[in-house]
Amino acid sequence: MTGRPPAPVGVRAGTPLVTPRLVVRSFRVADTADLLSYQDHPDVRRHLPGPAMDAAAAGRYVAAQAALTGAEVDAWHGWAVELRATGRVIGDVGVWVPAGDPPRGDVGFQLAPSHHRQGFATEAVSALCDHLLGTAGLVCLTAGCDAANAGSQAVLRAVGMTALVSTGGTVRFELRGRAHPVGDPGSQGTCPTRSA
Ligand SMILES: CC(C)(COP(=O)(O)OP(=O)(O)OC[C@H]1O[C@@H](n2cnc3c(N)ncnc32)[C@H](O)[C@@H]1OP(=O)(O)O)[C@@H](O)C(=O)NCCC(=O)NCCS
Repeated sequence: MTGRPPAPVGVRAGTPLVTPRLVVRSFRVADTADLLSYQDHPDVRRHLPGPAMDAAAAGRYVAAQAALTGAEVDAWHGWAVELRATGRVIGDVGVWVPAGDPPRGDVGFQLAPSHHRQGFATEAVSALCDHLLGTAGLVCLTAGCDAANAGSQAVLRAVGMTALVSTGGTVRFELRGRAHPVGDPGSQGTCPTRSA
């Protein structure tokens, strides 16, 4: 081990992503404090499954993310969302990449409540989706969120996703890249993703 970050490949090739106000980049171990400052806030957890991470779990998560190359499948690839004006991490975005062909992914995101309602999620998730369907070569993206999560649904629509089915209090969204090989644009269920 040299301590040097792995050269980006797969879904990480072409990152970091620079937007007008943000840098969407791989996590660094030093990001743990910023992640801990928002990920357990009630306004972040309200519609998310499972418990928040404690300090040890957040440290393990950031270290594991920092070590990914981008080629891993059946894996969650997260990126820190850094505010260019301050250099602080104000959120994170990511994609679950299942094994299989064609390559696809299921996206997720969370922002610090101090930075909600300022267009940051839309800016970061839009850049991520463009990247995943472009440079990263995924053919289809999905996302799922609580039917009561109006903010998340607004973000997903703003980045061009289409709502498909609503079952069990969850709404599924889909966005296909131009390279998607099957189905007509209006059909449902051709972009399967993780079941968990
Ligand atoms: C969902 C979340 C990421 C939105 O982040 P954000 O930076 O506030 O979103 P944006 O500022 O880009 O807003 C995008 C749109 O959503 C709308 N919106 C944001 N939060 C909203 C809310 N709580 N209720 C209703 N609409 C909301 C905005 O008004 C905007 O719509 P507009 O373009 O028509 O004005 C943020 O609330 C969050 O981190 N929530 C907790 C984690 C979470 O639920 N993640 C999604 C899991 S599926």
